[in-house]
Amino acid sequence: MINNILVPVDGSECAMRAAQYAAELAKFNPNSKVTVFTVDRIPRSYISRRLYWVAADWGEQGKHIREVFAEERQRILEQAEAVFKEKGINVQSDYGAGNPAEEISEYARKHGVDLIVMGTRGMSNLKEIFLGSVSHKVLQMAPCPVILIK
Ligand SMILES: Nc1ncnc2c1ncn2[C@@H]1O[C@H](COP(=O)(O)OP(=O)(O)OP(=O)(O)O)[C@@H](O)[C@H]1O
Ligand SMILES: [Mg+2]
Repeated sequence: MINNILVPVDGSECAMRAAQYAAELAKFNPNSKVTVFTVDRIPRSYISRRLYWVAADWGEQGKHIREVFAEERQRILEQAEAVFKEKGINVQSDYGAGNPAEEISEYARKHGVDLIVMGTRGMSNLKEIFLGSVSHKVLQMAPCPVILIK
């Protein structure tokens, strides 16, 4: 039985279609637990200057940077949660920071996830590529089955 479904979301249309699909699956099982999960997209310049992590313990000065991430994260999670709530399906949300594929796979392992439902593509604009790097890497690393939605 698929009881514990993880839906990684990045604000893309493809991820929203994955949420719709996961909601259809969850409808069949009253015991299903669904978690929408996003990993903060940290700009390269922030990574090189370690700004994101520094901001975490910067007190007042880091507040602005933390708020920018929190707002974006909140928007992405709420939009995905709404898909489930509309259908009366229980949903919870969580987030990580760092490398998206690693965070998603690690989260799935730690929380005993049975199935990951995600998009083939995300926010990137390279139309000629069929599979994004996050979904590609999750396929390799995930401890459970993965459904990719086009
Ligand atoms: N930061 C993230 N947090 C959670 N899930 C994500 C994140 N980024 C991508 N995903 C998930 O992975 C799916 C595929 O996105 P991916 O990022 O692999 O493709 P892309 O953005 O088109 O290409 P790339 O990021 O490799 O340039 C998304 O539909 C979403 O489900
Ligand atoms: Mg992407």
